[in-house]
Amino acid sequence: MIRKIGEDIFWVGKVDWELRLFHGSEYSTHRGTTYNSYLVKDEKTVLIDTVWDSYGREFVENLKKVIDIEKIDYVVSNHAEVDHSGALEELMRFIPQAPIYCTANGVKSLKGHFHKGWNFNPVSTGTRLNLGKRELIFFEAPMLHWPDSMFCYLTGEKILFSNDAFGHHYASELLYNDLVNQGELFQECLKYYANILTPFSPLVEKKISELASMNLPLEMICPSHGVIWRKNPLQIVGKYLEWAREYKENQITVVYDTMWKGTKKMAEAIVEGLKAEDEEVEVKIFKLSGSDKNDVITEVFKSKAILVGSPTINKGILSSVAAFLEMVKGLRFRGKKAASFGTYGWSGESIKMIKDALKDSGFEILNEGLKVNWNPDKEALQMCFNFGKDIASQTKIFKT
Ligand code: FEO
Repeated sequence: MIRKIGEDIFWVGKVDWELRLFHGSEYSTHRGTTYNSYLVKDEKTVLIDTVWDSYGREFVENLKKVIDIEKIDYVVSNHAEVDHSGALEELMRFIPQAPIYCTANGVKSLKGHFHKGWNFNPVSTGTRLNLGKRELIFFEAPMLHWPDSMFCYLTGEKILFSNDAFGHHYASELLYNDLVNQGELFQECLKYYANILTPFSPLVEKKISELASMNLPLEMICPSHGVIWRKNPLQIVGKYLEWAREYKENQITVVYDTMWKGTKKMAEAIVEGLKAEDEEVEVKIFKLSGSDKNDVITEVFKSKAILVGSPTINKGILSSVAAFLEMVKGLRFRGKKAASFGTYGWSGESIKMIKDALKDSGFEILNEGLKVNWNPDKEALQMCFNFGKDIASQTKIFKT
């Protein structure tokens, strides 16, 4: 499918309704995704990004509906990750000499992926590519999402092609932000930011300030995943600034796993304590096995504090909790508090292990954690309740 988005400007990407897992199995895509590619025809014709290689042939066949492939003068690769560069291999069979514009890191990455001697033309911030009536201006955007990432800006129509930044895994045939369900759209944007961009928040803020200082007029933001920001494109930029600044809502998230329901009973009693102390705090509970890990991470992102529970097993913690802690470590959340809890039979290492892992991941630790020997009895459940009350009291937001 080809969609015209401006005078001689076309969306030539792929809507992937089937995709349910992205980055291998690291990211759930409940609503599919899109791989956006754009073609700008001027005195020179430029193709900006491609699609995942699974759709390489389909992509090139589709492109032929709008242009004779040999007439593509330039190719821009804003980011070499294969969901955007994958179809290059198929495309470049038709135009092997066409210059590919990307960052110096993009050259390394594209060479690493494809092992081809293509005509690479490294660019840096401020490099301009004359198309005729319009120009493309490049901006390096390292770590949004990889060290090679960059944006490009089209003069004339005033479009920012931002690649992964401002994207979302959301399949839609509606193409534009103002046409889709706003709840679904922003849920997917938030999940994307929480699971992919959280570690790079300082760079997000810096890049947005840098672009703002250039005072470039902006009519549209065209990311490489999801819909085009046509109506009030700066709204997603504003959201990114909010999310980049130690974002938190009045929410505490309890995540745990359990073997014989002892740690589950603890979690429930803790939640009762939280709510007894603070009626206004939003509390959400997730049993990690059986929950979608990316949805849980999205809730962690929204939280002011998290409580993490596991019984002790083999002097350690349950594998689902270990996997969760590994994700949390990589995402480097800032400005959040945490505590640990769990049951044990013999040795009881899990509580300290969780506490230490959370501390090493940058959380402010609220206490030493709570451990309960064997199946929690009435007295132990009262301790859990009090533990919850104490945490709610330590994290309470007082309205002025
Ligand atoms: Fe959508 Fe970093 O690739």
